[in-house]
Amino acid sequence: MPVHAHDTPDQPGHNPALIPVTIANGTEPRHPLDPLTAAEIERAREILVDAGLLGETARVPMLLPDEPTKDELAAWVPGTPFDRRVDVTVMDTATGAVTEAIVSVTRGEVVSATEIDPSAAPYGQPQYLFEEYERAADIVKNSPEWRAAMTRRGLEDRIDLAFCSPLAPGFVGRENEVGRRVIRSLTFLRDSEDDIPWAHPVEGLIVHVDLVANTVIGIEDEEDVPVPAGSGKYTPDAVGPARTTLKPVEITQPEGPSFAVKGSLVEWENWSLRVDFNAREGLVLHDVRFDDRPVLTRASVPEMVVPYGDTSNTRFWISYFDAGEYLLGKNANHLELGCDCLGVIKYFDGYVADDHGHAVKIPNVVCMHEEDYGILWKHTEPSSVGAHVRRSRRLVVSYFSTIGNYDYGFYWYFYLDGSIQLEAKATGIVFVGGGIPGSTNAHAPEIAPGVFAPVHQHLFSARLDVAIDGEDNRLVEIDAARIPMGDANPFGNAFTWTETTLRTESEAQREADTSAARVWEVRSASKTNYIGKPTAYHLIPQPTALLMADPASSVAARAAFATKHLWGTAYDHEERWPAGRYPNAHQGGAGLPAYTEDDRSIDGEDLVLWHTFGLTHIPRPEDWPIMPVDYAGFWFKPYGFLDVNPAMDVPESSQAHQIADGGCGRGTACTCGH
Ligand code: CO
Repeated sequence: MPVHAHDTPDQPGHNPALIPVTIANGTEPRHPLDPLTAAEIERAREILVDAGLLGETARVPMLLPDEPTKDELAAWVPGTPFDRRVDVTVMDTATGAVTEAIVSVTRGEVVSATEIDPSAAPYGQPQYLFEEYERAADIVKNSPEWRAAMTRRGLEDRIDLAFCSPLAPGFVGRENEVGRRVIRSLTFLRDSEDDIPWAHPVEGLIVHVDLVANTVIGIEDEEDVPVPAGSGKYTPDAVGPARTTLKPVEITQPEGPSFAVKGSLVEWENWSLRVDFNAREGLVLHDVRFDDRPVLTRASVPEMVVPYGDTSNTRFWISYFDAGEYLLGKNANHLELGCDCLGVIKYFDGYVADDHGHAVKIPNVVCMHEEDYGILWKHTEPSSVGAHVRRSRRLVVSYFSTIGNYDYGFYWYFYLDGSIQLEAKATGIVFVGGGIPGSTNAHAPEIAPGVFAPVHQHLFSARLDVAIDGEDNRLVEIDAARIPMGDANPFGNAFTWTETTLRTESEAQREADTSAARVWEVRSASKTNYIGKPTAYHLIPQPTALLMADPASSVAARAAFATKHLWGTAYDHEERWPAGRYPNAHQGGAGLPAYTEDDRSIDGEDLVLWHTFGLTHIPRPEDWPIMPVDYAGFWFKPYGFLDVNPAMDVPESSQAHQIADGGCGRGTACTCGH
């Protein structure tokens, strides 16, 4: 009897947020940078079908807006029509043939259709279809090879509930895999339909599947360690009664939020920006301005990689590119369902294409709200001037995506002082293998009895199309610098700073240096502030390890972006993907290494920064069964962009508060201020 995996939980392809759209959603794009509408996605599909490019066996691994070029945008007169285009990757599931099409939904025509050959070097497969996860699981569970391995391990009565997790294969150069559409399947056991499979890995059982031939092309069955039996459940019925000691915190904004929203345009205090969302990058911000002065033309996190540092056959190949292989946006969450944000919230819906190219809606995919953020500025002068304090407020624009066992949040923060912060939040379930309880594994600490969690990294690439007071920008590395004791430093206490202009794409491949408090300054090449210095912002990295894999490794070639903290490139409309358009099973070299091959000048040019940041995880018991959020990110702060602290006119808080013990009296409202 065939075994169906359609009830398998929590893998990509089971995004419960996706809602089919049967009618056009009615909203017309009002601005060329607005996100795709359901009607546009459906129209693109119709045009491709009419052109014979989307037949019975064809599917749509990726559908994105083909954003207007900067020239088109500059030429556009508000209120006039504009050309809306869609970028569609079409794959024939019967043959594996791939066509990249640009479709104008405004003109009703296919602008271009290019066949690409993923079987030729440097290879690279389109993103996985959701249906392929189910198909792969079916193929594995019906294969005699896998059933024999389960039986050999004495797990034959666990077959029905077993969970076959399909995973991108990396690039390991095996003859029967290179150039083919391959997925690997690891097996996890479940005690019941609602059990958490990730806690029960069947160690050393790996099945390799060709998704075009729909066959098992290899199996490894090489270890025989007990399957960890401890529960990985995290729901209240498993955890037990919730604590009752936490008293409610209510966030209220009786006069409503301080932001205004017109379509995709958001205005909040001195800030304005456009909120966009697509299937690959998820949240995208356009035209970020402070005091109506340009800061960022476009900002997103278009790629990330999760390489594992484990030598075992089960995991040495694991190097998930969650955006480029799985699509962060297509796997995004419906936020209202999870109470992700507090306060007065503005949600934005997102529209992506399903496997067939039909529009599906992700309701409330982007959350926007304001947060109190402690102290903005404060001083107490021991005189009649007294104490002055202003509270910090930030605008939060965020989304969350679930890719298999892991969950990632991407939070952009805008502050009253002109600063921007990006914070990636990693949570969810740590990926584990099985082992002999009490044994030692140099690559995987034991985090629960018999549960070994391999070391790994989460390395993100933020793409910042910077525009400090316009597109003509200059990149300068600023280091704090020691001075040897001597004539220039007679007392030994002195230090200074150095400024190194990074003039070309090769010069702009840099590593962070915490010992020098290194920052990267983006300067206007033409505008100056009131003390005559170039207006500027600083990209401030947070301490973070780069790719730990050896430079000669496969993953180092495929995730070359993660070998530098900073890349600076000259703007090119086509250059969007740090690891290339199709990192899946790609041999490497795509994306930033290719973009920078010509070593273009970036001095006074339209500059794009690509910043690698992230987490290096040596997992711990406290990360089980769900990892508390771990944070990684960076700041982008004004440095002479503004003449003075722009938040001097923020009013004193008049918000009533209570003092828990003493002061105005227990539980009695009093106000802050003098
Ligand atoms: Co981790």
